[in-house]
Amino acid sequence: MVRLVTSLGPNGHDRPNRHNVAEELVVGPAAGRSFQGRLRAPGDKSISHRALLIAARAEGRSQVRGLSNGEDVRHTLEAVVALGAGAERAGHELYIDGGAGRLHEPQNLVDVGNSGTGIRLLTGFVSAIEGLTVLQGDSSIAKRPMDRVAVPLRLMGAQVDGREGGRFPPLAVRGGRLHGIEYTPPVPSAQVKSAVLFAGLGAEGATTVNEPVATRAHTEEMLAAAGANIEVRMEGAGATIILQPGALQATTTDVPADPSQAAFWAVAACITPGSDLVLENVYVGRGRAGFIDVLRRMGARLELVGEDPVRRTADIHVQAGPLVATDVGGPEVASLIDEVPVLAVAAAFAEGTTTFSGAAELRVKETDRVATTVELLTALGVRAEPAPDGLVVTGNRGAPLRAATVGSHGDHRIAMAGAVAALGADGAVTVRGWDATATSYPSFEEDMTQCLR
Ligand code: S3P
Repeated sequence: MVRLVTSLGPNGHDRPNRHNVAEELVVGPAAGRSFQGRLRAPGDKSISHRALLIAARAEGRSQVRGLSNGEDVRHTLEAVVALGAGAERAGHELYIDGGAGRLHEPQNLVDVGNSGTGIRLLTGFVSAIEGLTVLQGDSSIAKRPMDRVAVPLRLMGAQVDGREGGRFPPLAVRGGRLHGIEYTPPVPSAQVKSAVLFAGLGAEGATTVNEPVATRAHTEEMLAAAGANIEVRMEGAGATIILQPGALQATTTDVPADPSQAAFWAVAACITPGSDLVLENVYVGRGRAGFIDVLRRMGARLELVGEDPVRRTADIHVQAGPLVATDVGGPEVASLIDEVPVLAVAAAFAEGTTTFSGAAELRVKETDRVATTVELLTALGVRAEPAPDGLVVTGNRGAPLRAATVGSHGDHRIAMAGAVAALGADGAVTVRGWDATATSYPSFEEDMTQCLR
């Protein structure tokens, strides 16, 4: 039973609801039904942002298929148009007319909505554009730390200012003459790496990023595909990326399904007895597939089918089965940080106590996800404790979770984690602020209804 309520009280955030996603979702227990068939999660959000930025800078007409249909990516599309790129839709195809010579300062403020990736990547991108760009977002964005991108971009010669000395948005970026730097981000962050590399495209001299722990590799992979002169050296758990400035060529990008969204269905299928589900065409490349390893360690019956080593995609075949606790920490955390809320839901259904550590970054996501995940699970009757750099979740030993009303706090992943947890509750769970899912997965409820049979 999935019931939609379309107009109710405060939604926990300050974004307009353009997708008509319900403000509240009521999910009943799976009660004998299970996940069956095939499901294709939306286009990968990380790849979608980058496809638009790279196409805006590439000379000529690029094509993007399967772009994420969420609000976050729509904001980045509007941003590249405001910066001078052309965009045309023809059916399912999106064409972007780009080139370094087309890009200019925007006439108006650039609104990134709820997107941390959008604002951080754009800050680097506009650093290489002569003129002033002001980037702003919603009330969650106003709390996200931006010094992590401001610091290296200033070292490259950009002027980056914002609230509290440039630590918080809105950000005012005066771009122009940059020079390459060699930089080691203090926290593993694909967003910081990407901001520096996007700025480096227009800088004088080489730009080098040293990553002690390698993060998702989309920017390097996609810049290389667009003809950039870029070298990646893997060293133990880390990576060094060296980029020479230069023009990019127009490309065609086929955006695969988002592993961070597929993870919700993988956990849903694991915990719903009788489920047998195939998640189609999921990106499983470096820095994104950590949740697969964790679920396997927990005993999940999960298999990659038809792996494509060039596109780094595979179908994921998941079958329900008992789960056991595990410890999640160390270098693997960077490759599953967005999946912690739903992995914590898996832990609630596992035998034993699961720990998540080394994940202090959770505290500066769309919400403080240590706090919001613990609050979600506690409301559902699960023993969950916060830690400074993670959380500890004790499984319910096969007992159903408690039906309750939970809040998303405007965080899409907390809302979806709540909907998955509800499948194993003893009654209907109400997720308030469900419309937060419009940022990344406006059709989540539709996909759930279709596959839960
Ligand atoms: C992203 C990188 C990660 C991730 C975010 C998307 C990206 O953030 O949490 O959802 O597309 O580069 P950090 O780079 O801050 O770790």
